[in-house]
Amino acid sequence: MAIFVTGGAGFIGSQFVRDWVRLHPDQPLINFDKLTYAGNLDNLAEVAASASYRFVRGDICDAEAVAAAMPDGCDAVVHFAAESHVDRSILSAAEFVTTNVLGTQVMLDVARAKGVKRFLHISTDEVGGSIEPELWFAEDSPLAPSSPYAASKAAAEHLVRAAAHTFGMDAVITRTSNNYGPYQFPEKLIPLALANALENRPIPVYGDGMQVRDWIHVADNCAALRKVIESGKPGETYHIGGLHPVPNLELLRRLLAVLGKSDSLLTHVKDRLGHDRRYAVDCSKIQRELGWHPTISLDEGLRATVAWYSDNDAWVRRARSGEYRQYYERVYGA
Ligand code: NAD
Ligand code: DAU
Repeated sequence: MAIFVTGGAGFIGSQFVRDWVRLHPDQPLINFDKLTYAGNLDNLAEVAASASYRFVRGDICDAEAVAAAMPDGCDAVVHFAAESHVDRSILSAAEFVTTNVLGTQVMLDVARAKGVKRFLHISTDEVGGSIEPELWFAEDSPLAPSSPYAASKAAAEHLVRAAAHTFGMDAVITRTSNNYGPYQFPEKLIPLALANALENRPIPVYGDGMQVRDWIHVADNCAALRKVIESGKPGETYHIGGLHPVPNLELLRRLLAVLGKSDSLLTHVKDRLGHDRRYAVDCSKIQRELGWHPTISLDEGLRATVAWYSDNDAWVRRARSGEYRQYYERVYGA
């Protein structure tokens, strides 16, 4: 099996690549990534020298570059590459539309021309918008994205479904809830809170902090993605959740308790514009049909994540200072 991954230098993509190369050392894997601010080759140090792994720097909006890197008839494309941070999309949406919408169409076109056997599109529970208490977002619920990021991801999903319907492509969509774990860029809530707490700096809590997110450890998510690649049905959408919905304030208190730090670091700040109150994916379908279940409890996952960030302060420092961006030039040349 040959596999083509986009966005494999990011947080989830790099976990997926590290796991895949470890589990399938004989299967060629190409990691195609533009290395935006979110792409960090430090995340891939443990697979960089593997014979089956190849990194190609390129932009998913550049059809020629994608076509040059993608082998004919490759078994699967796993499309992670995206602009992923909601706050950035509120400041400026253009890059989100370009990468997440146009880039996805380019990936679909090239994959079809190359005879790719399966296209896995990585989407998000945010495409369903804020979910009222007691309700759940199911695979067939209507899409109601609220942020520019979520709207661009919803648009991308429509393009994937259109390609499957019109051209009979074997395309599968996954929608995952909030991932956490090692190598997450310290702009997202958990790594930001950890990095600040480790330096005894205030942790910004948007609004009242009662927004609910369902947290899944990134390794559990990647196990679900492998299941979908192996046995998901063509044209289907699968929800992946951690079964750990908690309000942000409770999550942060639990994190600080693991760190042995005081809640006084929590500092309420102005709320995010249009802040979604609650995400709640119903992930019973993947459990029922593919037999996948999350295996890492929130307490266990938070303890492991705290330990990783505490032990990897050099990674956090390089991520925060921008030093990691010199890696490519040093290793691959200009
Ligand atoms: P990330 O921001 O950490 O990484 C994104 C990666 O994509 C980076 O390596 C970046 O360099 C690359 N990239 C961006 N634009 C590109 C382009 N034009 N061409 C090639 N590469 C490009 O993102 P993440 O948190 O790992 O998320 C990965 C995917 O999963 C995204 O599609 C995101 O929407 C989705 N998702 C994320 C979460 C989460 O909690 N982080 C949850 C659900 C879904
Ligand atoms: O739900 C899946 C989504 O989860 C993914 O599609 C996105 O790519 C990913 O970024 C994430 O989006 P969120 O907006 O939920 O994640 P973020 O870590 O930015 O914020 C989590 C919650 O914490 C959210 O309610 C906003 C709040 N928050 C965030 C930050 C960065 C704070 O209170 N303070 C902060 O400093």
